[in-house]
Amino acid sequence: MKIAVIGSGGREHAIAWKLEQSDLVDRVFVLPGNGGTTHNVPIRVDDFSGIRAFCQKEDVALVFVGPEVPLADGIVDFFADSPIKVFGPDAAGAQLEGSKIFAKCFMQKYGVATAEFYEFGIREQSCCMELPIQPREAIEKLQGRCVIKYDGLAAGKGVFVCNSVEQALADLDELFDTYGSEAHFLIEERLEGDELSILAFTDGHDYQLLLPSQDHKQLLDGDEGPNTGGMGAFCPVPFYDDNLKTQIEKEVIEPTMRGIKAEGFNFHGIIYFGLMITSGGPKLLEYNVRLGDPETEVVLPALKSDLAALVLACFDGTLDAFPMEFHPGTFVDVVLVSGGYPKAYKKGVPICGLEHSQELVFHAGTTLQDGKLVTAGGRVLNVVAHGDHLEAAIKACYNKVKQFSFENMFYRTDIGHRK
Ligand code: AMP
Ligand code: GLY
Repeated sequence: MKIAVIGSGGREHAIAWKLEQSDLVDRVFVLPGNGGTTHNVPIRVDDFSGIRAFCQKEDVALVFVGPEVPLADGIVDFFADSPIKVFGPDAAGAQLEGSKIFAKCFMQKYGVATAEFYEFGIREQSCCMELPIQPREAIEKLQGRCVIKYDGLAAGKGVFVCNSVEQALADLDELFDTYGSEAHFLIEERLEGDELSILAFTDGHDYQLLLPSQDHKQLLDGDEGPNTGGMGAFCPVPFYDDNLKTQIEKEVIEPTMRGIKAEGFNFHGIIYFGLMITSGGPKLLEYNVRLGDPETEVVLPALKSDLAALVLACFDGTLDAFPMEFHPGTFVDVVLVSGGYPKAYKKGVPICGLEHSQELVFHAGTTLQDGKLVTAGGRVLNVVAHGDHLEAAIKACYNKVKQFSFENMFYRTDIGHRK
C-alpha cells in the first residue's frame, strides 16, 4: 500500500517514520514534507485537487492528514466520492477543533466535564444557558481568574490565561485588536491542575487510546514566557493510573463518543483530549481532531503496534479488537528552536550535528539548501530519547541534544521536570 502524509512538521516526520516500519506499506510520500522526510512531494496542504491528482497518479490508497487546517477546510468531504481513504474527520467533525464555541456547546450538550464558560458571538449553535451578559461582567464574575479564547483556529495564539480583572480587560482589548471588534470568543473559568494529553484513534463508534503524554507549551523553563507550538513532551505520564483513566473515560471520552455518533460526524481519525486534572477531577480544556505536536514525537515511538494496521482498523470496523501494544519505559522529546521564536527569527541557518545517528530525531523547521540542512522554521528539531523511566529518558535526551547546534539555538532545560 502507498500512503500520503499531509504536512511538514515534526509530527508528520514521526508519522511517516512509524508508517515506514509497517509490512503493509510500500511507500510513504510526504506532502510537502521537510528536510528530514524522504519522498517529499511539493504540493501544498490546501491544494486538495493537487493532492487528489497525485494520489490517483501514484495509486495512493490512504491519506494521513497531519494538521488541522485541511480537515477544517473539508479535505475528507472533498474525497468523499473517491475510493482513497482519508484519515481524519469531515468538516462537521473538525469543528470540534475549529470552533471553541462549537466545542464547548458540544461538551455541554453531551455532558463532558469542562470549565464553566460564557460565549460571545452570534452563532446558530449558541448554547449558553446563561442570560446575555457583557464580557466585563463575565470577567468580574470570575474575579479575573479566567481564560479568554478566540473562537477560531489561531495556532495556539488565541488563548489568554488571566490572573486579574485588569489583565483580563487588557487581554480582551488585545483580542479585539488582533481579530476585530466583531470577533467571536469565550470566557471561561480558569482551572488549576496538571495538564494531560490523551490521544485516541476512532472510527466514530469505538476508540483505542495511545499512552498519555504531556506537552510543554511555554517558551521558558518553569513554564514561564509566551506560549509556543510546544517546547517538548514526554510519555507516559507517571500520575496517570487506572483510576484516573477510568474517570477520564467515563466523564470525558465516552460522552464525547456518544456525541460524535449522535451528531453523525464522518470520523475515522484522531480525537485528542487536552485535559486538566483538577482537585474536582479531570476537565476537558480542548479537543483537537489530529495528532498533537510535539506529543506525536513521543507517543508514536512508544507505540509498538503497526500504525498502518491501526489506521486501517479505523476504516474496516475492527478497531474495537485491535491489539494495542506499547514499548516499556519513557520517551522524552526536547524541541530545539530558533532564537527569537515565537516572535521573529532567522531562517536558512546551517545545522551542525546531523551527521550523527539520526535515530529518533524528527525534523520540524528544516530544509535542504544546496544539499545542506538549514533551519526553515521556529521549531527546528525534535530530539527524542528513550529510558527505562522518566529520569533516565530525560538524561539520555539532554545528552543527545548536545550533538546538535546552530546559530542562536534555544531549548528548555526542564522538559519532564514539572512537579
Ligand atoms: P487550549 O488551546 O484551549 O488548549 O488552551 C491553550 C492552553 O491554555 C492550555 O494548554 C492551558 O495551558 C491553558 N488553558 C486553556 N483553558 C484553560 C482553563 N480553563 N484554565 C486554565 N488554563 C487553561
Ligand atoms: N500539543 C498541542 C497541539 O498540538 O495543539
